[in-house]
Amino acid sequence: MSRKVILDVDTGTDDAVAIMFAALHSELDLVGVTTVTGNVPLENTTDNTLRVLDWIGRSDIPVFAGLARPIARIGFPSAKHFERDSGDDPHGSSLPIPEPRSVRQDTGAVEFLVETLRSATEQITLVPVGPLSNIATALAIDPALTDAVDEVVIMGGGHAVTNVTASAEFNIWADPEAANMVLSAGFSRLTLVPLDATYQALITRDTCARLAKSGTPAGIAASRFISRRIDAYDGTVTVSDAAPVHDVVCTAYLVQPEIITTRSLHVTVDTTSSLTIGRTVMDTRLNSTQEPNANVAFSAAPQLLTDLLLDVFTSQAK
Ligand code: RIB
Ligand code: CA
Repeated sequence: MSRKVILDVDTGTDDAVAIMFAALHSELDLVGVTTVTGNVPLENTTDNTLRVLDWIGRSDIPVFAGLARPIARIGFPSAKHFERDSGDDPHGSSLPIPEPRSVRQDTGAVEFLVETLRSATEQITLVPVGPLSNIATALAIDPALTDAVDEVVIMGGGHAVTNVTASAEFNIWADPEAANMVLSAGFSRLTLVPLDATYQALITRDTCARLAKSGTPAGIAASRFISRRIDAYDGTVTVSDAAPVHDVVCTAYLVQPEIITTRSLHVTVDTTSSLTIGRTVMDTRLNSTQEPNANVAFSAAPQLLTDLLLDVFTSQAK
């Protein structure tokens, strides 16, 4: 039986690869995709999400637009702080595939999350790979939604590796209060995939060439998106001609958990300090008395991820 999944995204090139993976893998049942402002504004994250699903022939998966701003802060931190990771600049906010034919649902993302989780007859896996504004708002409406979730798998945070500031990773920094709400909500299983892990699972230009050569819609799109990332990361990662594709590590983990190795830790987010706002504070002390609330990935296996991407994207019907 396939695992029911809701993806919460700020699409972006790496979100796009994660969406394609979840939509095409036979062991995953992607019941809906919710969008949030992040890599680019909400209008673009929603448009990009629809583009991706149309392009791979999965327009049947409904898309719900969510929050355009963080839950507690006025305005939204400009994505220009984040050009390198979004992989979208200087190319603009739209992914390099045709405009969408389908449209988003009239129902909003938060309403969809609340209604779907309240009425769920089997457990659902939540995979937020953007700022956590939608998930936190749904939990504010009904904290018992956690009961319907078997696992939440979050791309966010960083211990030794950060991106948007010297202390913080973008998804958590962009809505730190929301992140804290989600981390402390009492999910029975919460897996956090920070930059420490995603920066180890680099995808190379050679893999892009193999994806493109397959001629499948997903292979062609994944090659374009990841190549764009490789251009943006040039000279900043340990392997030349390679880049992290953060969000797909989360969806790949759903079908191949050994792709990451985790430690059970207490994690909270700094919401007050001017220097370290948005930092995921991970209590790695061996004698810590704080109750763990997250399984935190500290490493990821690049070859396993590469093999999975090639398998799923190149076997799609042309
Ligand atoms: O910091 C990387 C994360 O921020 C990724 O999820 C990327 O898509 C952006 O949302
Ligand atoms: Ca993302």
